[in-house]
Amino acid sequence: MMSSIQPVWDYAKEMYGSTCNACHAAPNPAHFTANGWISGLKAMSAYYRLNKNEERTLLKYLQNHAKDTGGQGQH
Ligand code: HEC
Repeated sequence: MMSSIQPVWDYAKEMYGSTCNACHAAPNPAHFTANGWISGLKAMSAYYRLNKNEERTLLKYLQNHAKDTGGQGQH
């Protein structure tokens, strides 16, 4: 299972960096809990331009690497 989902996370991570580093350092995904990312990302939605699919993928990535979902070991 990890081998099939990992490329998606790699893609999301790259998208995260290029999207969110534009104005400030992109916060560590573990900055918020999985639930916290829903509003955390939404608060920034006026600032970035992603289509719905990209946005959903990014949210899933952040939620799966959040403070309460094992994000501590990641960066
Ligand atoms: C066009 C510029 C811009 C982009 C792109 C951008 N941000 Fe921000 N971000 C800001 C500004 C300005 C603030 C501070 C003012 C505010 O909170 O609205 C901020 C604040 C934040 C904060 C609050 C600070 C904190 O520590 O709680 C978070 C979290 C955040 N951004 C995450 C993101 C994420 C995630 C992305 C990518 C999806 C992103 N930002 C993309 C401009 C941007």
